[in-house]
Amino acid sequence: MNQHQTLQAVDDQQMLLTSAESVDGQVQVHWKSAAPPARFSPFWLRDHCHARHSLNPDTLQREVDTFSIPQNIAPARIEVADGGRALNIVWANDDRVSTFPAEFLWTMAEGNRGARSPRRTLWDRDSMAKTFPSVSHQEIMGSDAGLLRWLSLVEEFGFALATGAEASMAGTEALVKRVGYVRETIFGGMWEFSANMAFKDTAYTSVAIGPHTDGTYSNDPPGLQMFQCLKFDGSGGESTLVDGFNVAETIRKTDPHAFKVLSEVKVPAHYLGDGVHLRAEHPIIGLDDNGDLSQIAYNNYDRAPFNLGAAPMSEFYRALTLFHRLINDSAYEISLRLVPGTVLFFDNWRTLHGRYAFKGHRHMCGAYVNMEDFHSKLRVLRGAAR
Ligand SMILES: [Fe+2]
Repeated sequence: MNQHQTLQAVDDQQMLLTSAESVDGQVQVHWKSAAPPARFSPFWLRDHCHARHSLNPDTLQREVDTFSIPQNIAPARIEVADGGRALNIVWANDDRVSTFPAEFLWTMAEGNRGARSPRRTLWDRDSMAKTFPSVSHQEIMGSDAGLLRWLSLVEEFGFALATGAEASMAGTEALVKRVGYVRETIFGGMWEFSANMAFKDTAYTSVAIGPHTDGTYSNDPPGLQMFQCLKFDGSGGESTLVDGFNVAETIRKTDPHAFKVLSEVKVPAHYLGDGVHLRAEHPIIGLDDNGDLSQIAYNNYDRAPFNLGAAPMSEFYRALTLFHRLINDSAYEISLRLVPGTVLFFDNWRTLHGRYAFKGHRHMCGAYVNMEDFHSKLRVLRGAAR
């Protein structure tokens, strides 16, 4: 039994029921563990009944008619069954008998303790060191365990490499399709870009691109980006990555006021060109309802004009400058030279990306993947869909 299985076994024990009764019109259940008893509304229980007549076991779609449940539904008999693994309820004013897995009640108990927080490890240049998270292309394509390992690394660190891939557009696309499907945007689906500076008059260089996230002008910025360098003949051009969540947590600790501004001010962004005019707004540091980090959205080039008034704008620029300074501080950044056959897959809601200046010929390809498709695949692979 590995460590994960041991923890799972402990969790399973915690979720077992010992008794249940009706208290003040609610159903109260007691756990084998020391967790406090949980109460559920009878209407909620009937609406979430797990019996075959009320829930499709394959799709988890509701089959009970919520609006036919009596408003005053009440239990006639409540019993713990299957050694504490289930709760059965016979209703006083509904013909059906309901059943509920203990695990379901545990995860739905107040406070939703069953919700998994994302597995994240924040990093900077020193902690990431020289060994980047990486899985071989063969492992990813050859087994679900390999794919799960790769996607779990992306979830934990905000990026991971696939090594030994076919250095072609088709090879990159095959990896994208292993995860989900190619997201279509104004730039198309799979993209390919060739920069040959040898014939331009800018001293044969291509300028550096500072750390940013893509698609700040979209209501749903691309969740993840995958790219591969198919050919490089020149010097410079290393890709750079910054853990935006690490920078955000640093700001939360060291400058709470700047953090408040960066997480509350919605910054508009726009994209204009070729018959397209996209516009959306996001805080630079997005938070979920619990105050946890959910999304970084930052591209200073695409910021659209906005004005909150003189004093708030001064506060905003102070916070923006701090954010800009930290993401451009080499202590937070890693750089990697992408070689043909190595594919970079990263979380565009967390990891800022950029590129050093380069000379020569560079040929890249890549694609976006939706965040929800990435999470869907992770759930399926973990068998945690329920
Ligand atoms: Fe970009």
